Amino acid sequence: MEKYLDKTLTIDERTDDLLSRMTIEEKVGQMLQLSYNGLNPLDYARFKKLGIGSFFHALGGEIDDILKKTEKTRLRIPPIFGIDAIHGHALHNGATVFPSQLAMSCSFNRDLIFEMGRATAKEVAADGLDWTFSPVLCIARDLRWGRVNETFGEDSYVVGELGEAIIKGYECDGYIIACAKHYIAYGEATGGRDAYDSPITERKVREVFLEPFRKAVDAGCGSIMTAYGSIDALPLTANKHMLTDILKDELGFEGFVVTDYENVKSLVKKQHVAADIKEASEMTVEAGNDMSMNTHKFYTSVLELVKKGKISEERINDSVRRILRIKFRLGLFDGKERPPKSVISCNEHRALNHEIAQESTVLLKNDGVLPLKQNIKKIAVVGPNADSIRAQYGDWTFFSHPLPSPIAKPKGTYYTVLGGMKKVFGADKIVFEKGCDIFGHGSGIGKAVEAAKNADAVVCVIGDVLHLNGEYRDRANIELTKSQIELVERLAETGKKIIAVLVNGKPLCINLLKEKCAAIIETFNGGDFGGLAAAELIAGEFNPSGKLSISFPQSSSQMPCYYNQFDGWHGGQYVDLKKGNTYTFGDGLSFSEFAYSKLKLSKTTANKNDVIEVSVNVKNKGKMDGKETVMLFVNDVVSSILTPQMELKGFEKVFIRAGETKTVTLQLKISDLAIVKPDCTYEVESGDFEIMVGRNTKENLKAVLKVK
Ligand code: GLC
Repeated sequence: MEKYLDKTLTIDERTDDLLSRMTIEEKVGQMLQLSYNGLNPLDYARFKKLGIGSFFHALGGEIDDILKKTEKTRLRIPPIFGIDAIHGHALHNGATVFPSQLAMSCSFNRDLIFEMGRATAKEVAADGLDWTFSPVLCIARDLRWGRVNETFGEDSYVVGELGEAIIKGYECDGYIIACAKHYIAYGEATGGRDAYDSPITERKVREVFLEPFRKAVDAGCGSIMTAYGSIDALPLTANKHMLTDILKDELGFEGFVVTDYENVKSLVKKQHVAADIKEASEMTVEAGNDMSMNTHKFYTSVLELVKKGKISEERINDSVRRILRIKFRLGLFDGKERPPKSVISCNEHRALNHEIAQESTVLLKNDGVLPLKQNIKKIAVVGPNADSIRAQYGDWTFFSHPLPSPIAKPKGTYYTVLGGMKKVFGADKIVFEKGCDIFGHGSGIGKAVEAAKNADAVVCVIGDVLHLNGEYRDRANIELTKSQIELVERLAETGKKIIAVLVNGKPLCINLLKEKCAAIIETFNGGDFGGLAAAELIAGEFNPSGKLSISFPQSSSQMPCYYNQFDGWHGGQYVDLKKGNTYTFGDGLSFSEFAYSKLKLSKTTANKNDVIEVSVNVKNKGKMDGKETVMLFVNDVVSSILTPQMELKGFEKVFIRAGETKTVTLQLKISDLAIVKPDCTYEVESGDFEIMVGRNTKENLKAVLKVK
């Protein structure tokens, strides 16, 4: 048996042996990833002798089709199959569709998100795949950007913590590898434009965007995806400093870097920094990319460049070694064991999904109308998203990818808000009138108003639709659409108490709801159980614990509105707007009141390499047991560069019984207080730090920590 097939050897021994046997053609073949869609017989003919490194967007039986078509290559190197399983294996119709990352991030529950990653990995692997292009570690600081729904929100610490949790979940059983993306600062582009230039410095990259990727690397993430855009006019795909010096050398990333879709070609066609594919391929490889997603000509270009000595074989060997190591780690050479197909959407995963949906649901306003009394007689459920599973699922499901299938029929069981309300209160108590569409309203509003007049309570489900979110889909205007505004205003005129439920991909301007509605529930894209969780909250079947991971501006032009900004020297507000946001990061109500007291630091003076304990008492003064996310913010009182007035440095979610008081302790590493100096060095500066611990950015206890 060839050494590389000997399972008793180490991954490095097997990799070295295999590498030594490969021709340069076979090596470069490993650096190419092809999309299943659009593959033609010629592609197979051209590549089948070589063995292509990877395919993506193939699902289930299509994988067998590829494996059959690509004959057993000389060295029998298996391809690695990738897919966008970013909130469950949702491109597979019938698999568990979890809430979106943005929705899940409002749970602030690392353990649940770990379990979601683990469950998703089993469903992806059961379907024959080995690699998910997830998590998104972009930070959503400009809400005009189309892909806010795919992020864990606006805060770097939350993105890093939840990214680490989901990566560990994806990779813990060894079935698949994760892919931290999009490296780096993709969502920070001018004007919130998708795949555009982020006009920021390396210092800003390090201060805000790099930490989540550091945590991903430290968590053992198998792959990282290069973003479409550019940092201060240098495309990431061609950015050796970002990809090699920082990611591979400084952070010690040992997995492989895959470009995003056709990044090589974009250097020529979109970013105009290369005259042709050959030049672009050379830039791509020399910058530190190990695999090209599509751009078939990348293969012949790199082969020619190596033969001409323009790219060293040593550089190729590094990429191929990284790819092969992952394939050995996944057991692809050894007939890896996969979970049974029965794991797809199994009861255990559905129960987990239900729990996540509940903990991800955010109660933003409640004037006491919730929970509704069980003896209520009639509830009017109205609004364009009351019964829209497409709006509720959001992006990256079988409705939208790999190919658009708008009329697909979901094979799995799901609950829209209407379905949830019928299940919780009984269909006989529910009257449904759509009222309007997201765009355009027809005559339905009158019927919705009539239904409201004849009901004891009104649930109005609004938000946005799939095609207002995603790649190429940035929005200049994130106000509620006209038809929805008219619906809410007409409902308010009835004098009935309105319970607004939001089903949306990203924050919208909802001042009207704050003014006119008795309650507001935010679900974002809640997955299979998003509608049921909203209904269960309305009925008081669980105590809501979700908190916003992202802020809601009053107006589309109030950008950026993230919480952790510098102090505005000249007021920091617009003369034609009140100060502040409609809702802010950390906002979220419970049916219980949680009272904080006795904030204590294990040390009030610390050295720079200390770890201190920050403890606080939290009392559940309500009648329901509940969960509470305790947040720890820091303010560096005087620093040599501007620092935000408050920055999250820790959070813990705890369960507290009704009437009980719990002491919650968070660890604070003083090294986490470092700033990034103008020369990009990191330093914890001596001085005072305000430590703020509480429910959110407004309700917290303060203490002062001196760092020597
Ligand atoms: C897309 C996205 C990326 C995704 C990839 C494969 O264009 O930018 O997030 O993983 O292509 O679908």
